[in-house]
Amino acid sequence: MVAHEKLEWKEGGVPVSCRFDDPYFSLGNGLAETRHVFLDGNGLPGRFRPGFHVAELGFGTGLNMLAALIAWRGAGIAGPLRFTSFEGFPLAAADIAQALAAFPEAAAVAGPFLEQWAQGARVIRLPGLEAEVIIGDVRETLPRWQGWADAWFLDGFSPAKNPEMWGEGLMAEVGAHTAPQGSFATYTAAGHVRRALQAAGFQVQRQAGFGFKRHMSVGRLG
Ligand SMILES: C[S@@+](CC[C@H](N)C(=O)[O-])C[C@H]1O[C@@H](n2cnc3c(N)ncnc32)[C@H](O)[C@@H]1O
Repeated sequence: MVAHEKLEWKEGGVPVSCRFDDPYFSLGNGLAETRHVFLDGNGLPGRFRPGFHVAELGFGTGLNMLAALIAWRGAGIAGPLRFTSFEGFPLAAADIAQALAAFPEAAAVAGPFLEQWAQGARVIRLPGLEAEVIIGDVRETLPRWQGWADAWFLDGFSPAKNPEMWGEGLMAEVGAHTAPQGSFATYTAAGHVRRALQAAGFQVQRQAGFGFKRHMSVGRLG
């Protein structure tokens, strides 16, 4: 039997990691935050084109993947969106289902994903989506990855609580696995993360964050 990551549930149904003591998504509206930070921040859906490849640090509940899929289907692009996510501590399908229940729009498309995930699949195929979740510590798995992303969702827990997901070496790997003109977006505006992304080759900008967060960061490969 596969061991799954342990959660606590905060008021309003927000899942919180026991390991990192941090929520998986915003205590406000996780789906709206995902759209603001990761989709708008990467210029999506406007930049979608056939074969577009999104990569993500931190799969968590799959909410970001489902938000991207909803946007992809809405954009009517031919063929599937390619989505690769890196996750060290996968959640149980039942916990993911409970977390997604807070977002009817995401829950409405999550059924076949949850069935596949519950059976242990880490390559997920849905209409309009070809996804892979690469399990393991991202500091080991990303350097071995053979792909390039057109857009990155950098979604580790907060840099203070999860520094492994934001180090200079890892950000350099993000840059090295980005296609020409590719982009990243993240909810954090921490100075050391922005500097590491600059060193990785991105033109980094600060933008208005979601909800009570003043700033977030976005960038394109220079
Ligand atoms: C904020 S959550 C991601 C939320 C997710 N994107 C979603 O849509 O629900 C951060 C994720 O990073 C993962 N993580 C933390 N450290 C990691 C590491 N060193 N390697 C791989 N994954 C890690 C955690 O297990 C967690 O799932």
